[in-house]
Amino acid sequence: MKFFVDTAEVDQIAELNDLGMVDGVTTNPSLILKSGRDILEVTKEIAEMVDGPVSAEVVALEADAMIEEGRKLAKIADNIAVKVPLTWAGLKACNVLSGEGNMVNVTLCFSANQALLAAKAGATFISPFIGRLDDINLDGMELISDIRQIYDNYGYDTQILAASIRTVNHAYQAAMIGADVMTAPPGVIKKMAEHPLTDAGLATFMKDWAKTGQKIV
Ligand code: G3P
Repeated sequence: MKFFVDTAEVDQIAELNDLGMVDGVTTNPSLILKSGRDILEVTKEIAEMVDGPVSAEVVALEADAMIEEGRKLAKIADNIAVKVPLTWAGLKACNVLSGEGNMVNVTLCFSANQALLAAKAGATFISPFIGRLDDINLDGMELISDIRQIYDNYGYDTQILAASIRTVNHAYQAAMIGADVMTAPPGVIKKMAEHPLTDAGLATFMKDWAKTGQKIV
C-alpha cells in the first residue's frame, strides 16, 4: 500500500519522508489555507522533496478554467497530480488533462458510480472520502470495498486513494480491502506505530537489561 501524506506542512512531510514513509502528498484548498503558504511556492517545495505524486487542486468550477489551472499546476514539476472535483466539469477536465499525459486525482468522491465515471474519464487516482461519509452515519469503508470490486470487475487501472482517513482503524481497514493508496494526516501515520503491549514489553526489557549491568556499546 502506498502512503500519501495529507498536508501542506513541509516540516511534517520532511519528517516522514526521512523515514521512507512518503510515497506522495495530497493537498487541497483547506490544507493550503492551514499552511498559510502560497500554493505555487509550497507545491513546488513539496514536489522537490518527495519522489512520488503531489496532488495540487484546481479551484475553478468550469471545465475550461479547470483545465487552464490544471495545466499551470502541472508545470510546477513532473510529479504533480492535478486534483479536480467529481463534477461533470471536473470529469471533463480529467479527460482532457489525463489525455495530455498528466496525472489526475479526482477528489470529493462519495459514491461507487462517481468512481466508475472517474475511471472512464482516465483518472490516475480516485479519492473516496471515508471520514466525511462516517460523519453523516454512512459507511466509508463500504464505499472503498465497492469501488475495489467494480474496478477489479472491469480491470480499470485507476488507483483507489482512500482519503479523509481520520483514524488508524480507517488505515487498517482500507489496507485490508486493498485500496492502492491511503492519504492520511501525519499524526495518523505516526499513531500506526503505537501499541500498548509494545510499550509494556519495552518497559520490562529495559528494567531487566538494567539489572544485567551490561552495555552493548
Ligand atoms: O484528502 C482529503 C482530506 O483532506 C479530507 O479529509 O478530514 O478534511 O475529511 P477531512
